[in-house]
Amino acid sequence: MAPTAAGSLALHASAAVLLVLAAVPQAAANQDGDALTAFRKGLGDPGGGLASWDPNLVNPCTWFRVTCDNDNRVTGLELENLNLSGRLAPELAQLDQLKYMEITLNNIEGPIPPEFGNLKNLISLDLYNNSISGPIPPSLGKLKSLKFMRMDHNRLTGPIPNEIVELSNLAVLDLSNNDLCGTIPTSGPFEHFPPSSFANNPRLRYPELDGVGVYDDDTGC
Ligand SMILES: *[C@@H]1O[C@H](CO)[C@@H](O)[C@H](O)[C@H]1NC(C)=O
Ligand SMILES: *[C@@H]1O[C@H](CO)[C@@H](O)[C@H](O)[C@H]1NC(C)=O
Repeated sequence: MAPTAAGSLALHASAAVLLVLAAVPQAAANQDGDALTAFRKGLGDPGGGLASWDPNLVNPCTWFRVTCDNDNRVTGLELENLNLSGRLAPELAQLDQLKYMEITLNNIEGPIPPEFGNLKNLISLDLYNNSISGPIPPSLGKLKSLKFMRMDHNRLTGPIPNEIVELSNLAVLDLSNNDLCGTIPTSGPFEHFPPSSFANNPRLRYPELDGVGVYDDDTGC
């Protein structure tokens, strides 16, 4: 009896290992699809632009306006001008290979999730021409790969967080046409951004030089 029981146990154990091994790649492949599906559930899509987003597919790489790399990980999201409404889902931060987030010219509202600071491969964060509100999360200062940040024509409020000054690769910034307040940073990449990057934020101002040539950076907002 004993040898049979042990043999049966071993068989069960190896079957369990096989099941686990079989399950792992699929779980990894679905991580990006699950994140996008969570985002889509909160969206209004009157034009049916996201009709091809079938959560039953093994990965989202054939979905409309989704780009993947050779490992079937999502690197690009290009949702421009689709009349999408609803909110940016924190789950989008699970797309850890994402380089290009282009969610522009829609009717997206609500805040930018602070979790977006975890998108460590992001090169482009383009959210312009929506109705996005609330503050710019200081966590975006963690996006060390970021080159383009265009969030103009929204309803962003609060100050420009000092953390953003740490984005040494940031080449293009557009925060114009929002309701930001306080003082525009002047160091790091901010040495090079033109005034048009900040235009039409009535409560935003450049720091003033005091009598001895020192910037007064009291934000007062
Ligand atoms: C967006 O909505 C406008 C006005 O309702 C309509 O004319 C246009 O075709 C829509 N575009 C898309 C991509 O659904
Ligand atoms: C964004 O919206 C503004 C105001 O409605 C408009 O003037 C501008 O052309 C839009 N930007 C783009 C790229 O369409």
